[in-house]
Amino acid sequence: MTGREGPIGPEPDLLSSLRHRVAAARGLVILTGAGVSAESGVPTFRDTDGVWSRFRPEDLATPEAFRSDPARVWEWYDLRRRAIATCEPNAGHRAIAKALLRRENVTLVTQNVDGLHGRAMMELGGSPAHPRILELHGTLFRVRCSGCQQEVPHVEPVDVSRLLPHCGECGGLFRPAVVWFGEMLPEQTLDTAFRRASEAEICIVAGTSAVVHPAASVPLATLRAGGRLIEVNPEPTPLSSHAEWTLRGPSAVLLPALLGEEAAGA
Ligand code: APR
Repeated sequence: MTGREGPIGPEPDLLSSLRHRVAAARGLVILTGAGVSAESGVPTFRDTDGVWSRFRPEDLATPEAFRSDPARVWEWYDLRRRAIATCEPNAGHRAIAKALLRRENVTLVTQNVDGLHGRAMMELGGSPAHPRILELHGTLFRVRCSGCQQEVPHVEPVDVSRLLPHCGECGGLFRPAVVWFGEMLPEQTLDTAFRRASEAEICIVAGTSAVVHPAASVPLATLRAGGRLIEVNPEPTPLSSHAEWTLRGPSAVLLPALLGEEAAGA
């Protein structure tokens, strides 16, 4: 399939026709990555100023890193939690939230752990834990006991020079409820993501470098089942050549244009 794109961002006619296709799609899956939060001020991972240009993932985002220095890992996640608490959902998050609330055949599959999709839902009176939001990599705002595995919400800042948070049930050390490198994704959530993608007529892939699997394979399930991909990203990715339409630009502008309400009745 050939990707089609405008010279500097998509042309209005293309956006308008895509908006109608998206509105009419029998099933719609939206896969998001760190880029959809870029305009909220949350740094991405692999751009030139991204998180992984300043930190080594193996020091902070692996089970081995946590075993060898849990305080360091807690401190880093605490810093990210505090930074994100000062950020607000952007128009892209809100457009997705509206689509989820308006249409039952829309599923959001996100790699993001920043909770901004959930906050956009709350702003619109929806639940941040909406069943059609599938968080493949967990969330910064929950922690899981290393012992009994129970998960609890966590928002409070932590003083890592004192005792790290421990489980009230079994006394085990809590860890961030995110998926680290080398860990399995939550099985049921992943299965649901692939099933919904295979049932979707259109998959919108927004703000992800599409290099981390299995998340980056989710849109391929749509393609295999005869559906089409729309990519929203200022830069090309390994999925670009599979996309029927590649929209080069920021997701806070392009997602509202693609998911706009004016086409809701189309
Ligand atoms: N709008 C849309 N896309 C953008 C924007 C924007 N305003 N700004 C940047 N991007 C794109 C970049 O071009 C890049 O392709 O967002 C993408 C961000 O890629 P990554 O930093 O690799 O983030 P992501 O794909 O979510 O990473 C996947 O890697 O380290 C892990 O667990 C982490 O979930 C994350 C996973």
